Amino acid sequence: MKIGIIGAGNIGATLARKLAACGHEVKLANSKGPESIQHLAKEIGAKAVTKEEAVSQVDVVILSIPFAKYPDLKKTLSQLAQNTVVIDTSNYYPGRDGAIKEVDDGKPESVWVSEQIGRPVVKAWNAALAATLADKGQPDGSLTRIALPVAGGDSLAEAIAQDLVEDTGFTALDSGSLEDSWCQQPGTPAYCTELTLPELKLALNAAEKARSPQNRDTLIARFMTPGSQFTHEQIVATNRAMTA
Ligand SMILES: NC(=O)c1ccc[n+]([C@@H]2O[C@H](COP(=O)([O-])OP(=O)(O)OC[C@H]3O[C@@H](n4cnc5c(N)ncnc54)[C@H](OP(=O)(O)O)[C@@H]3O)[C@@H](O)[C@H]2O)c1
Repeated sequence: MKIGIIGAGNIGATLARKLAACGHEVKLANSKGPESIQHLAKEIGAKAVTKEEAVSQVDVVILSIPFAKYPDLKKTLSQLAQNTVVIDTSNYYPGRDGAIKEVDDGKPESVWVSEQIGRPVVKAWNAALAATLADKGQPDGSLTRIALPVAGGDSLAEAIAQDLVEDTGFTALDSGSLEDSWCQQPGTPAYCTELTLPELKLALNAAEKARSPQNRDTLIARFMTPGSQFTHEQIVATNRAMTA
């Protein structure tokens, strides 16, 4: 497929690398401009482009920028063809992104994103740490393969997003509509806990909307405590313990 990715950081660059390795034609954009990611794009098999080029003549656009920056993309995405699938990888951390009242009041994060950019989105890859995405993909059929939730509403768009999640080495699980996607947000049992498919189904069912913002804030405070050092495995284990 022809894929444009906006955001060339931890997640955007990792997805670009994996999707290019699967044979997809990947364009990569950031805010500073293509010259700033020329080397990176070449190394991972993608093409460095402007945001406008990233959304031109592609089947899929993946958005992977900081949550509060999504309103910046409205104009760029207004040029997008109607049938282009838009996938959102974002997560909201008020301490990092600034408080957004509607989301604090319970609006699912990707519903807010969809409203900001004026397009329906599918939410995918948000519930995996960057290191999980980079290093823990496995071939289909492996008993320990990690599953990731994919939420949307449009069945065709969601099916395309699920196929791409599978291409990156993870089992895609339909986690419902975008309205339901709070079940895969930070602080829930499905978020960054590296679960297999049966475990992920249980985790999504066990999510408690009222509890997750507090879990999220407690976890991030713990991980960011000056002097503390967590390995990747410790982060995953701490996420599991806090959200169980
Ligand atoms: N890191 C994780 O483990 C993780 C896991 C799952 C989901 N997520 C979510 O995925 C998203 C990306 O996270 P990340 O860790 O990849 O962030 P990151 O490493 O900070 O990268 C952010 C990227 O977004 C670009 N960007 C920022 N504002 C932009 C704008 N207005 N227009 C175009 N590009 C813009 C930046 O480009 P410049 O450098 O040129 O400004 C940079 O390439 C976030 O919403 C995050 O919550 C992160």
